[in-house]
This record gives sequence, structure tokens and C-alpha cells, in this order.
Amino acid sequence: MLQRLPHLLGIEDLSTEQIAFILDQAKPFQELQRHPLKKLATLRGKTVAVAFFEASTRTRISFTTAAARLGADTMALQAEASSLKKGESLIDTVRTLEAMRPDGIVMRHSSSGAPAFVAQRIEVPVLNAGDGMHEHPTQALLDALTIRDRKGKLEGWNVTILGDILHSRVARSNIHLLSKFGARITLCGPAMWIPRGLETLAPGLRRTTCIEEALSGADVIMVLRVQTERIHEPALSPEEYVLRYQLTQKRLCLAGPDALVLHPGPMIRGLEIDSTVADGPQSAVLEQVTNGLAIRMALLYHLVGGAPADAPHPAKDRSNASD
Ligand code: NCD
Repeated sequence: MLQRLPHLLGIEDLSTEQIAFILDQAKPFQELQRHPLKKLATLRGKTVAVAFFEASTRTRISFTTAAARLGADTMALQAEASSLKKGESLIDTVRTLEAMRPDGIVMRHSSSGAPAFVAQRIEVPVLNAGDGMHEHPTQALLDALTIRDRKGKLEGWNVTILGDILHSRVARSNIHLLSKFGARITLCGPAMWIPRGLETLAPGLRRTTCIEEALSGADVIMVLRVQTERIHEPALSPEEYVLRYQLTQKRLCLAGPDALVLHPGPMIRGLEIDSTVADGPQSAVLEQVTNGLAIRMALLYHLVGGAPADAPHPAKDRSNASD
């Protein structure tokens, strides 16, 4: 039987069995999102602290909604409004939250490794909601769920990751996860944004600055957000980025009609992706958002609820529905 995870800090240390278990557990929670009554009482009486030391819209709302749909209460900390602005250290802020006795902490921070640092110092489970350029494990899990659903399996795809890979925690977590499932990964973008040294994580990893080469034969295309403040001349202009790297319908044809397009959001239409592609039949951007709820419910249920791996699934037993 699988051991319960003490924390979720990254994908790197998870086994394929643990990842497959989380994806399987998310399945009934996915079905729950289509149900008119979406709320369970599974975590009634539990409290989840949602501590975002960095701006976020969708991930914060997704975790808060996932906790609410399991019946848990949430305590929210947003950096702009917190004592951090007054000079309090990260660990003092977290210990203050812990003193209010939450049963788990969801945490986003601009420093790589901050959730792991906190996890070593507090008693309750820590769920990493994105740390610096390091990892964004729930994003990779929801992407994996979306690929598995849309393409029938997770194993062995040709995956092209397009854009600013260097600064992307989404790319890093996805490279870890997909390479564990035998993906052949191609990184594509301006040379300055394609990091070296990832071959040890993903055997056979390819890198190219040519989008046509990267798209031919791709089964899954992950388009990353381009941080506009990172595009500056003379190295790169927005016009040049659009010209060389925007995912357009014409370019998508190089990958073929079955290729799946993913984007973690926030998406800048007209820069990294064309609207025809973003809204087209090959795009799964909104399914990714819905699947994010299911993945986060599955993780909160196990880490905060402390459910053993072989417990009956709460979303399959509707007597557990909340009033
Ligand atoms: C990503 C993030 O914040 O890491 N977005 C998200 O979580 N939905 C991607 C990004 O901001 O580039």
C-alpha cells in the first residue's frame, strides 16, 4: 500500500505509483465538478491555511474552492496585506499562522525552496503552490490528468515545451513528471531561455530554437506564459517573439490534428498564442482549470484529511454530501 505523503513539495521526489495514485484519486472529484451539488463534508471541521506570498489568481482560487468543496474552512494570507510588508520573517509569519492551528498550509512563494524550508519547521502538511523557478507540482499533476483524459494515456508522448523555459516552474515540474512516464521532451524558445543541464532529468531531451522543428511530430504542446518584462531589446523584441515563437494555427498544423495544446495561464493572446489556437478544438486550457480543482481536492483529502490510500473514495459515496 502507498504511504501517505507528509507534504507535497515537488514532483521530483514522487514515484510513478504515487503520481498515478493521485491522478486516479482525482477522477471521482472530476465527476463531482459536473454534479449540481459539488460540496462534500469530508474535511468538515478542518482548516486549510492558504498563504500566498506572491500574486496569483487561478491557483489561489482553485485551492480555496477545492478546500470549500471538501467542507474545510480556509484562512487566507495575501502578501500585500500581511505583516511581511512590515518586515516580519517568513518563518515568523508561518509560525503565526500555525499558532491558529490549521490542518495544512498551501503556500506560494517567490523563493525556490521556501515551502521545503517551512515544511522542515512546522508540524502540519505543506502543499507547494509554486516556489520561485523551482516547482509547481499541482500544475504538472493537472496537466498530466488533462493529457491522460484527452489522449487516453499518459505514457510515451512527444512533448514540446514552448517559450521561457528557464524561468518556468511549470516547465520544471512537467519535465520531471512526463519524463518519469517516458515522454520525449523538446524544449523550444529563444536560446537565452533554454536552460542547459536538464538532460539528467529527462533522457533524450532535445532543445531547439526552431519552432517548426519543435512542432513536427509533437503529440502535446505546452505553451508557457511569456513575462513581458523579460522581453527587452536588443536581445528580443515582442514583435520578434511573435514572429518566431507564437503558436499559430498554421504552425499547429505541423504537429497534426491530434496534438493537444496546453497553457497554464495567465495566457497572453497575440503574444505566445493566437486566439484561433487558444479557443480551438485542440486546446484544453479550460479543462486544465477544471482539472486543477479535482487534483487539489485529491491532494487536500489525502494530506489534510489524512485518509489512508485504501479508504473508500468520498466523492463516490454521496451520503457524505454536505447540506
Ligand atoms: C503559473 C505560475 O504562476 O507559475 N500560473 C499558474 O499557476 N496558473 C504560470 C505562470 O505564471 O507563468
